[in-house]
Amino acid sequence: MGASLTHLLPEVRSLAKSDDNVRILALARDRWIDYPRATQAFELFDRLVKIPPRQRMPCVLLYGESNIGKTQVIAKFERRHPPEYDEVAGVERRKVVSMQMPPTPDQIRFYTSLLFELGAPFNASARLNVLEHLSRELLRKVSARMLVVDEVHHLLSGNYREQRASLNLLKFLANDLQMTIVLVGTHDAEIALQTDSQMSSRFARFEMPRWQESEGFRGLLAAFERVLPLRRPSNLPRREVVSALLAASGGLTGEVSRLLNSATELAIRDGKEMIDVSHIEHARTTVL
Ligand SMILES: Nc1ncnc2c1ncn2[C@@H]1O[C@H](COP(=O)(O)OP(=O)(O)O)[C@@H](O)[C@H]1O
Ligand SMILES: [Mg+2]
Repeated sequence: MGASLTHLLPEVRSLAKSDDNVRILALARDRWIDYPRATQAFELFDRLVKIPPRQRMPCVLLYGESNIGKTQVIAKFERRHPPEYDEVAGVERRKVVSMQMPPTPDQIRFYTSLLFELGAPFNASARLNVLEHLSRELLRKVSARMLVVDEVHHLLSGNYREQRASLNLLKFLANDLQMTIVLVGTHDAEIALQTDSQMSSRFARFEMPRWQESEGFRGLLAAFERVLPLRRPSNLPRREVVSALLAASGGLTGEVSRLLNSATELAIRDGKEMIDVSHIEHARTTVL
């Protein structure tokens, strides 16, 4: 093989020397790639999580297109703040608690999924006020400072009254526990939030925009190149590749990732060992 593989991260080099099938299977693995907007989100969340309890805690709505990378950002943030065991008090501390908004705006379902995330046993037939009480007790016990609720656009599947009720529930939790709330969703989440002007004013907006041709996007592609197990450098940040990827992905991180995986597989199979525009054009017509 002989190639020194210096275009790859050291930990990827041995994979790049593996059999084709091994390399192709490895493409399906989860991987995290840093980019500037994600770093900005982490900085904002880190500041929020450190704010001591107070009235009217500031909150954030993180919004953007589906497949732009919102859930990955909050999952990564959560991994950076894992639960800790407080030896002295003998309790688990969980600064960041995250959950998904149930597909239908139903307060019982909201609390049952929150309790599930908190690892708490509960009686599925319990009444709303019982679930609510238990949730608050537990959030307080683990000293939660931030509640992250993903898929907030699900709120829109309810009628106006139900949307208001769900927003009131969140407002109640934020006020009662004096913690910050991060809502995550598509542009519809932002529309849902507007049904309550008081809530709306409390949430700072943080958008995750589609990628455009920029230094940031070229940086993202350079980072992808360092982890894709190809034996020759592709120089992904070059102009033709940037344009082809932007056109084919609509600027969505998830699509960029899918296209690059698919193009990598093609470049492994045809023996070229580097991605060029024809691989990307071909990847456009594949499903996986
Ligand atoms: N930081 C990242 N590094 C690598 N791949 C990412 C990253 N962010 C997103 N992706 C890819 O994009 C896909 C969609 O991301 P996701 O967070 O689920 O989007 P959203 O929640 O905005 O719909 C992921 O499954 C993953 O393949
Ligand atoms: Mg998501």
